[in-house]
Order: sequence, then structure tokens, then C-alpha cells
Amino acid sequence: MIEYLLDYETQSVRRIAVKNIYLIGFMGTGKSSIASSLGKNYHMEVVEMDEAIEKKEGMTISEIFSRKGEEYFRQVESQLIMEIGAKNNRVVSCGGGTPMRQENVDEMKKSGTIVLLKATPQTVFERVRHSNNRPLLNSNMNVEYISKLMEQRREKYEAAADFVIDTNDKTKDTIVNEIIHIFAK
Ligand code: S3P
Repeated sequence: MIEYLLDYETQSVRRIAVKNIYLIGFMGTGKSSIASSLGKNYHMEVVEMDEAIEKKEGMTISEIFSRKGEEYFRQVESQLIMEIGAKNNRVVSCGGGTPMRQENVDEMKKSGTIVLLKATPQTVFERVRHSNNRPLLNSNMNVEYISKLMEQRREKYEAAADFVIDTNDKTKDTIVNEIIHIFAK
């Protein structure tokens, strides 16, 4: 489904999808901040999956992992994707592991377009090095580990993506504009 919206920057009318936009990618690739900008500029509701899960469960992501385990977290994550898939006009900042389950990818493809944000392991490291709410990295906060995990996930990320955006050395505005151009075509 396509809708027309006014682009404030150029004051021109652009087409934009009103199905969901799913931003996927490794931790620290900028999904949250890009989703927030897209949402503000283009009047789409933003869903920050990790935040929604924390709210639902009344615990931080780290607490969910340590008290209930990763498998439980993955189930909650899949359940949330199904709920989001029933709605539209959402920009969704997915968890880094969301596209690892094919059922999640199938739901995202059914209900929207998937945009993969990419960054180098070094860039990711710089962005997440002070985070203490990313259990998969908590005891592995180094470029080597990030690089290894990213490589393990690469195939699934790329297979899931409808579009790929390289975020290295780009400003937030540039990235947002690249995404808007995808939908404005
Ligand atoms: C995860 C990424 C995190 C969060 C959880 C697991 C992953 O989300 O969902 O810690 O498996 O890559 P962000 O990508 O938003 O950090």
C-alpha cells in the first residue's frame, strides 16, 4: 500500500509505503536512532522492540536473559513481531537477533519492507562499548568477537533484507534520506 506525504525538507510530495518498515542489523548499527528520525519526519509510529519487550516483561533485557534465558527472550521477541505484523505504518527498530528466526522474517516480509543497516565491527564496537544492557556482548566486548558474531549472522541478515544501507561514515540525516528515497521511488 502506498500513501502520499509532504516531505518537509524539499516541500515536495512523496510517496511512502504505509506498510511497516523494519530496520534490521547488528547491535549498534543505528536502528533505534534512524527509526526515531524516520518516525518523527514521516509521521509513522515507532516501535523499539527491546524497549517494548522490557515494558512487557517488567525487566531489562539483561535481566530477562539472566533470569529467564535467551530462548525465553527469543519467544517473546517472536510474539512481538506477530503483534506488530498485524499493524501498519510502523517503523520498527528490531533487535539484532530478530532476523535469525525464519518465522520472524516471514512475518516481517508479509507486513512490510526490511531494510538492513550495516556497519563495520570497529564502528559497532565504538558505538556499543559502554553499553551494559547487551547480554550477548557483556563479557565479549571486543572487535574480534563482534566480527565473529557478525560473520555468523551475515547470511541471514542479507537473505532477509529487501534493501541494504551502509551506515559507516554517514550522518543520521544521510541515512534517513537514503531510506526515504527507497520508498519514494
Ligand atoms: C540482540 C540485540 C539486542 C537485544 C538483545 C539481543 C542480538 O538489540 O535484542 O540484547 O541478539 O543481537 P539491539 O540490536 O537493539 O542492541
